Amino acid sequence: MTLVEMIAIKLGLAPAPIFDALIPALKSKAIFVANKLRVFDRLSNRFLSPRELAQETNADEGNLAMLLEVLVAVGYLKRKNCKYANTKVAQQWLFEGSDKSVGNILRHIDDNWAIWVGLEETIRTGKPVFNFMQICNERPEVQRNYTLGMMDNARMLADEVVSKVKVSPQARSLLDLGGAHGYYSIAFCRKYPQLNSVVFDLEGAIQIGKEVVNQEKMGDRVAFQVGDCVIDDIGSGYDVTLLFNLLHGESPDTDKAIVKKVYDALNRGGTIAIVEILNYKGKKESATGLLFALNLLAGAPRGRTYSDEEIRGWLEHVGFANIERIELRRMPGHSLMIATKPT
Ligand SMILES: C[S@@+](CC[C@H](N)C(=O)[O-])C[C@H]1O[C@@H](n2cnc3c(N)ncnc32)[C@H](O)[C@@H]1O
Repeated sequence: MTLVEMIAIKLGLAPAPIFDALIPALKSKAIFVANKLRVFDRLSNRFLSPRELAQETNADEGNLAMLLEVLVAVGYLKRKNCKYANTKVAQQWLFEGSDKSVGNILRHIDDNWAIWVGLEETIRTGKPVFNFMQICNERPEVQRNYTLGMMDNARMLADEVVSKVKVSPQARSLLDLGGAHGYYSIAFCRKYPQLNSVVFDLEGAIQIGKEVVNQEKMGDRVAFQVGDCVIDDIGSGYDVTLLFNLLHGESPDTDKAIVKKVYDALNRGGTIAIVEILNYKGKKESATGLLFALNLLAGAPRGRTYSDEEIRGWLEHVGFANIERIELRRMPGHSLMIATKPT
């Protein structure tokens, strides 16, 4: 958009909703489709014609050519002599071989488009149309996009999170509740050689987590436990518990019970670390956190986002102390909350 167009929208001379809702939605879908067709993997450091790319992706040449032009217009591809290649932004963030690739999380969000269609009915009736976790059980590729997508996020955040959560030299055992891919466990165990971790999650996530841990050759330090943390025993004797992006899948009452279980599972002096996309920080609303709540409304029957004050209340209620909130810079919108169980 040009500066003049932006000013026209700001002044109310051009219709803001078209540029807030319609154009970004189509741009979003164009990037999602190209990502699913693995366009950005195929156009990494090489130029291909629409015909060559259509053969590789098994797509219709004419329609693919139109998509490629769209991607040039929105800055994800460049064109030379009627051939196309990734721009820097596509190469950095969407080429699978980049260590910053977020291709999996985009595939996961594209899966979510299918459930967003139920949002209107959910808001009208109060009843969810879809259950994302059930869809994961029925469709392995959806589970894979979800778990590896969360790992894309984790790859962005792990260094920052590990640097903020101080682990004492005496700490030996870490519980990664809803740890899925195991990437955070791997990062903590690598930084703290005395530490071993247990990734506790549902069956579907753990199958993928085991692949990740084996690839990273961390199987001797990171173990897995299949279970449902709402109804099953989560164990005890832990020095650190990670509760990353799990609370938003459950209701406040269930989350209070999970926080209590974690308190009981920790040794005295132990640490709980929570990562969440908060909806409010103090009185300040977060657009990211509130929009994410809509995503949950569409696909998680009990899911919602929380404020730092709500989570702080649960932590204090069960006895945690030294509660702090830290804003994570590598993935804007994500907050880290840390607390300790008194000695
Ligand atoms: C959004 S993902 C977060 C994964 C990882 N902690 C991270 O932050 O990247 C939530 C994880 O919690 C798991 N989960 C959800 N409900 C659970 C439950 N009741 N018991 C155990 N795991 C659960 C999901 O299977 C999923 O892997």
